Amino acid sequence: MSPIWTPSSWRDCPIKQQPEYPDPAELKATEQKLEAFPPLVFAGEARDLKQQLAEVAEGRAFLLQGGDCAESFAEFSADTIRDTFKVLLQMAVVLTFGASCPVVKVGRMAGQFAKPRSADTETVDGVELPSYRGDIVNGIEFDATARVPDPKRLLQASNQAAVTLNLLRAFSKGGMADLHQVHRWNLDFIRDRTLSERYQNLAGRIDETLGFMAACGMTAENTKAIRETTLYTAHEALLLNYEQAFTRRDSLSGDWYDCSAHMLWIGDRTRQLDSAHVEFLSGVCNPIGFKVGPTITEDELLRLIERLNPENEAGRLNLIVRMGANKITELFPPLLQAVQREGAKVVWSCDPMHGNTIKAGNGYKTRPFDQILGEVRGFFDVHRAEGSYAGGVHFEMTGKNVTECIGGSGSVTEASLADRYHTHCDPRLNADQALELAFLIAEMLKESRS
Ligand code: PEP
Ligand code: CO
Repeated sequence: MSPIWTPSSWRDCPIKQQPEYPDPAELKATEQKLEAFPPLVFAGEARDLKQQLAEVAEGRAFLLQGGDCAESFAEFSADTIRDTFKVLLQMAVVLTFGASCPVVKVGRMAGQFAKPRSADTETVDGVELPSYRGDIVNGIEFDATARVPDPKRLLQASNQAAVTLNLLRAFSKGGMADLHQVHRWNLDFIRDRTLSERYQNLAGRIDETLGFMAACGMTAENTKAIRETTLYTAHEALLLNYEQAFTRRDSLSGDWYDCSAHMLWIGDRTRQLDSAHVEFLSGVCNPIGFKVGPTITEDELLRLIERLNPENEAGRLNLIVRMGANKITELFPPLLQAVQREGAKVVWSCDPMHGNTIKAGNGYKTRPFDQILGEVRGFFDVHRAEGSYAGGVHFEMTGKNVTECIGGSGSVTEASLADRYHTHCDPRLNADQALELAFLIAEMLKESRS
């Protein structure tokens, strides 16, 4: 731990999961270019998100986080962004309407590029190369040149993040998110009839409600909440060279904010108390999170909370639990109790993806829908038993019609994984699976709030 925090004090701490750039001078020059870029988000927006997350911490709202495991340069297109945005809107409306609960929407978008890996190298047919660490670092192709970390990728990633954020803002405020469009958020490829009907039915009820509200004088013209939404952005703060370059002193408050996204989190592999990642995020004023995986101890958890949120500010800290469906009911209760004993104000959310990854018989990394649902159920059950609030969910998902996770009513099978397996890292829920989960979670949320 450094005695005085600065945007670069992380450089004196032990660090994991970093690329080795062959040309440090080029890296330095690139960081300087990024430092001159305008920020991607404004500190005031990060403060708004913190306020909304404080509502979640108090049990008055629900957090929906979702998006790619890894954004890629190859999948970058208006359609990809639009479709993920639409599915997030659909999920949010299902939760809002189904559980009568405000939903805070956060995309794993516009910056979710860097990936931690289980090994530093990958060996194929006797050839060993550095692991792929996300498009912001190196190329996914198994090729010696592609795998060399290239600083130019930092610039391409930040450009892509800026363009993505621009489009998300346009969709959010420009009419796409108007509740009168709720029928049109349904994607053509939502093939499952029951699911589609269920959604159209809900959309019909929303139309009816809007008609009633209009009769009472509340219309899209005079009520912003009907015609606009806010989608915040978040990603894992893994490549700290990038994060440092976007860290700016807010001219209004004088505080430091990481302006690469509204919210940042620390992954399960880099959350050691003395790590560079913890040091870095301890000093920025954004809302932040860290992953709570199966190996964390009670003591580590409490010290991390103390270190990252010493003022016990509601809305500052999001604990993203990712134990695995078969471990959550055993491992989570003592941790939750410890946090309750300390009176720490946190947003608890459930990432049912990362503890439920398996390798299918045909070699594809996948996640069974039932396990994902099982972990969410376990998460809600534990909260109910402990008298605590299950504040949110965190998914890897896409609006594209991919076949990466198995199961769900659209029934992606092991055999169909090869059809449309496009992820650059972990398997994502497709639109069908994401929407189906939203309906199931809306029921759990409704019950937990009644
Ligand atoms: C992720 O969110 O993509 C990730 C790598 O998660 P975790 O740190 O929980 O393994
Ligand atoms: Co992932």
